[in-house]
Amino acid sequence: MGKIIAVHSYKGGTGKTLLSVNLAATFVKHGKKVCLFDLDFRAPSLATLLKANGTEHWLNDYLNGICEIDKVLVNMGDRLHSDGKFSVGFANLSTEAIRDMSAKDRKWEMRALGRLLALRNSLLDDQHFDYIIFDTSPGLQYSSINAIVGADLVIVVTTFDRSDVDGTGRMLRELYDLFEKKTEIVLNKVLDASKSGKDEIQAKTKDLYRAPLLGVIPCFCDVLRGEGNIIFAEEKPTHPFTKILDEMANEIDRM
Ligand SMILES: Nc1ncnc2c1ncn2[C@@H]1O[C@H](COP(=O)(O)OP(=O)(O)OP(=O)(O)O)[C@@H](O)[C@H]1O
Ligand SMILES: [Mg+2]
Repeated sequence: MGKIIAVHSYKGGTGKTLLSVNLAATFVKHGKKVCLFDLDFRAPSLATLLKANGTEHWLNDYLNGICEIDKVLVNMGDRLHSDGKFSVGFANLSTEAIRDMSAKDRKWEMRALGRLLALRNSLLDDQHFDYIIFDTSPGLQYSSINAIVGADLVIVVTTFDRSDVDGTGRMLRELYDLFEKKTEIVLNKVLDASKSGKDEIQAKTKDLYRAPLLGVIPCFCDVLRGEGNIIFAEEKPTHPFTKILDEMANEIDRM
């Protein structure tokens, strides 16, 4: 049975999109069938990063009830040299669409949640995807809450930035606990990651969040240099970041 993973954070810019794309690519490399969704309707990124040209139907349209999910999914398998294994649902990046999505009311969001929940049947059960990954907007916006509600596992990406630590702690206690979601922490952009050993970081994280630590990602200049365009699993198979992703993917498989 497949799993839905929401990648979320309290603050912006923690590395959700980087992790979503690269985790998806890692699962594909491991032979899994993966679907990646851009649920960050306020600032869509995947259409730019994965160079989706000529997309006619967006996730916005699916959530608006204008079309079915099959129309939205774009097979990006050729990007990873594994045809049929990697599909992406893009968020519409036009200014009009972004403004439209930010003006939705509660009633619309409730219906959107229903459409999001229906993906479990259509994609996991019928089309046998192994993983669906939701890349979300930071913070407590409705679309992100919907993604969390719809997920089996929430990966919270956080940094050691003080306000991020504080906000993430609150979110863990008050939000994920409320929905009784299985939650794992990924610490990103960690400085001196090799100096402070994993045990020390694990202890510190446990103190701060009382949630399990899925992984620690150092700050890599190569990541910044890639400007979000590099898919590490594909293009840099021996990079330390690729190895960290391999371990994370294996750990999630075991859950
Ligand atoms: N481990 C890392 N080392 C160096 N740079 C990183 C690392 N992780 C992320 N970055 C950089 O941080 C920036 C933000 O990353 P990303 O866009 O993935 O964050 P995000 O959480 O999706 O942001 P947003 O909340 O705006 O959607 C990017 O420039 C990315 O390359
Ligand atoms: Mg992002």
